[in-house]
Amino acid sequence: MAPRHFVDLWKLEASDLRAILDDARARKNARLGWPKGQPDADRPAEHRTLAMIFEKHSTRTRFSFDAAMRQLGGDVIISNAQDMQLGRGEPIEDTARVLSRMVDAIMVRANVHEDLERLALNADVPVINGLSDRGHPCQIVADLLTIEERLGNVKGKTIAWVGDGNNVCASFIHAAPMLGFELRIASPAVYHPDLVDLARAAERQGRVSTTHDPREAVRGADAVITDTWVSMGDTDHDERLDALEPYQVDDKLMGEANAGALFLHCLPAHRGEEVADSVIDGPQSVIWDEAENRIHAQKSILAWCFGKVG
Ligand code: CP
Ligand code: NVA
Repeated sequence: MAPRHFVDLWKLEASDLRAILDDARARKNARLGWPKGQPDADRPAEHRTLAMIFEKHSTRTRFSFDAAMRQLGGDVIISNAQDMQLGRGEPIEDTARVLSRMVDAIMVRANVHEDLERLALNADVPVINGLSDRGHPCQIVADLLTIEERLGNVKGKTIAWVGDGNNVCASFIHAAPMLGFELRIASPAVYHPDLVDLARAAERQGRVSTTHDPREAVRGADAVITDTWVSMGDTDHDERLDALEPYQVDDKLMGEANAGALFLHCLPAHRGEEVADSVIDGPQSVIWDEAENRIHAQKSILAWCFGKVG
């Protein structure tokens, strides 16, 4: 049987994404108050090892996947790509074949999305996208879990994305038609979201719209989300800060959203750039739950990859 890869969110069945979210919520609630290192009662990853490969920096993804595997009763091996023969030019295809003989799943944080696809194509075990230049699907599962904990099922809710139409935004576009939420994206023309992603969402009757006006996107929204203006690998730092300045999420902009609207940010954040201190550290911000939920979301993603969910 072909392995269950979690590389592109849009390639999943909507029912699988729903099953992952429901499992994450149930699994989180079943261990409230437990020590963080205590395994879940059913240990769905017992005797399984996850390899983690990082081509870029990470705090949340690295620690949450490690913690997740411990809670699932499994184990991890972590390496920076630069420390591997991969960093000296060993082909990705060969790396995929070798690791498939040694571990039960591979998580990669990749510079180039196509490299992840090549790895998945040649691996006999599930491959998980821990962020690439074209998506951050694990983050979006954590974000949706966070929104649903506070507001109930995301179907019919309105989410506003403000700022750079980047990799995290792309995964929101992928999820919108799958779960039936409305997504409004406000970005400057030069940092517009990917047109292929938008076309795919439209084909699937997704309610995804774009504008250059942040107020238009945020008006009446249930959740407002932003991300850094300069992602890992971006080289046009000054141009980005100039173009994105009108897109800061501040109190005035949050005032356009529904009363009780949530503020989310995948972190790391740059206070005073994409978000004002008063918003990210204010009462509408759910960023610490969002960060914790990386563990719960990824446990259910891993369990799905191992055929134990969905
Ligand atoms: N949000 C996120 O993926 O954080 P890290 O870059 O720290 O993993
Ligand atoms: N868009 C950011 C997300 C970091 C978690 C980046 O790619 O750097």
